[in-house]
Amino acid sequence: MKGLLLLAVAALGQGLPDGSAFADPSPNNNPNTPPQKVLQQDSHSPLAPSDGSQRPNIVFILVDDQDLQMDSLLYTPRINRHLAQQGTFYANHFVTTALCCPSRVSLWTGKQAHNTNVTEIYPPYGGYPKFVAEGHNDNWLPLWLQAGGYDTYYTGKLFNAHTVDNYDAPFVNGFNASDFVLDPYTYQYRRPVYQRNRDAPVNYHGQHTVDVLAAKTLGLLDDALAGERPFFLGVAPVAPHSNLEMADETDTTSFRFSAPIPASRHQHLFPEARVPRTPNFNPDRPSGVNWIRRLPQQNASSVAYNDEFYRNRLRALQAVDELVEDIVGRLERAHALDHTYLFYTSDNGYHIGQHRLHPGKECGFEEDIRVPMFVRGPGVPAGHEVDSVTTHIDLAPTLFRIAGLAPKEEFDGTAMPLTAAEIEADRGSRQEHVNVEYWGKAGFEGAFGRAADGGPTTFLNNTYKALRVVSPRFNLYYSVWCSDEHQLYDLTVDPYQLHNLYPDIANPQNKGRGITIGGHPADQVASRLDALLMVLKSCQGATCIRPWQTLHPAGDVASLQDALEGRFDAFYASQVRVEYGWCELGYIVEAEGPQVPRIYQETHWSDWV
Ligand SMILES: *[C@@H]1O[C@H](CO)[C@@H](O)[C@H](O)[C@H]1NC(C)=O
Ligand SMILES: *[C@@H]1O[C@H](CO)[C@@H](O)[C@H](O)[C@H]1NC(C)=O
Ligand SMILES: *[C@@H]1O[C@H](CO)[C@@H](O)[C@H](O)[C@H]1NC(C)=O
Ligand SMILES: *[C@@H]1O[C@H](CO)[C@@H](O)[C@H](O)[C@H]1NC(C)=O
Repeated sequence: MKGLLLLAVAALGQGLPDGSAFADPSPNNNPNTPPQKVLQQDSHSPLAPSDGSQRPNIVFILVDDQDLQMDSLLYTPRINRHLAQQGTFYANHFVTTALCCPSRVSLWTGKQAHNTNVTEIYPPYGGYPKFVAEGHNDNWLPLWLQAGGYDTYYTGKLFNAHTVDNYDAPFVNGFNASDFVLDPYTYQYRRPVYQRNRDAPVNYHGQHTVDVLAAKTLGLLDDALAGERPFFLGVAPVAPHSNLEMADETDTTSFRFSAPIPASRHQHLFPEARVPRTPNFNPDRPSGVNWIRRLPQQNASSVAYNDEFYRNRLRALQAVDELVEDIVGRLERAHALDHTYLFYTSDNGYHIGQHRLHPGKECGFEEDIRVPMFVRGPGVPAGHEVDSVTTHIDLAPTLFRIAGLAPKEEFDGTAMPLTAAEIEADRGSRQEHVNVEYWGKAGFEGAFGRAADGGPTTFLNNTYKALRVVSPRFNLYYSVWCSDEHQLYDLTVDPYQLHNLYPDIANPQNKGRGITIGGHPADQVASRLDALLMVLKSCQGATCIRPWQTLHPAGDVASLQDALEGRFDAFYASQVRVEYGWCELGYIVEAEGPQVPRIYQETHWSDWV
């Protein structure tokens, strides 16, 4: 980035909230109680009041890179107290692209990345300029909510490549007030630059980015509460993303990622914490495919470094934990808690050490695609856990429901169940699939993942399409890579994704060797998953929600289980396969092989003549 603006150094004015106003004693080394499954509570509260009273407010907290699988929620007592105990935890919530910018654009538009075509963090395939170029800045959630009668506010990280140079070309549309943290300072924990409304960027050198954000959040919340209309407030802290170190601000190639920097009041916490030693942690044998399979096992120094990296993530998260409590306290004092929905989630998950990976995301493993997801609000059962499959694509439709707006046809997802009645009705009828997709490169953060020259390590050909299927009968992950590799994990028996069944299934010599998944021959299951992926990889709107309908227009197949009926074996055996022509860094359709599946037609010709 050249020509950086001269940035005014400004003090924040008022004192920062110390986060202790409503807090219990500081978190200690004993992990807090995790979200627990509690018996369902009765609730009949309607979402949008029909009596003419004001529609509910929405406060949406979107953190950066927080994991679910590495137990980060054991270290966030306030989030657990205010959101888990007072709200509902969505235990099977997934992102559809495990990378900040594509995931956020999908979240704020309600569309899969193949429909936003924002697939990367930087141009030409991603970042704020691509978001603008694709027309999303004129057609996205905050604008829709404003048109629907809401006042809209946002502070924190919006997208990557939203910078001190391009923030006004054009300005972000759709917010009544905003205060964005901008690149290249987004990940500089102690040197953030924020940019308010149409003002010039302001440098908060020496202040912790989450504390700056907390003050801004509470200010915007006061403004929002003072308004006449219901409001949406987006709050996007950078924690616990890794920290960016720039040796030279005029040379954007001279950066490196290091562990996140906690607020100093938290830097001593959790001295004993370490990455959970699950069976997939730094395994003795390589796992996965492609570049992951070629990774060397980490040595003891690397594991120790990554454990400290992990502790610093937990420490950096503490300021977010305090912020959540501050938000709840402010809403409570304004008597707004009973007509405000609070959402809490992350843009993607994170891995450290699993499958020998160094700190990062961008993979399709559970660590990267599963994220924490809480909702608290009127009608939402307290202390409850939902196991229906939900994704970030479902969030825009969910916010529409809360606002009482009719869902857009272009939405690729459906509203999440919020009330006890909806949760009950959804069980068994909701979709069982998650359409995971990725284009481009993968990279590591942290010192030990670095290339020999000290720069960031990147791996090419990290382009893949994948499916997660979660139902009472099946728990599967299937992926097809641009390198023509495939993965199939049966998580019922292999929850840590260490045994790829696909090579055995594909090997003709293994036919009939009795590999089964959920009681069915594994090759039969694989043929159905591939066909489902064929539909989903270019689905739009209703096709993304009910993909089996495309394959079976008669409407008699609505799940993997239905599709496994023997009478469909020949149809699936002759189905077109998902494959790539070659690897690309973005969504180049020509490289992505066949696009259209065969459609099942009854062969009872007498019906037709
Ligand atoms: C927020 O912006 C919308 C759209 O411009 C406008 O209609 C509304 O009056 C604004 N609200 C406030 C409180 O200014
Ligand atoms: C551990 O591995 C790293 C590479 O990841 C290497 O740079 C370092 O020298 C190794 N340390 C020891 C003690 O072998
Ligand atoms: C990436 O894939 C292309 C084929 O699409 C291949 O030519 C190239 O060697 C691969 N690169 C790496 C680093 O695997
Ligand atoms: C996605 O964007 C890239 C970069 O602008 C473009 O080359 C590609 O054709 C687009 N893909 C689709 C399907 O529109």
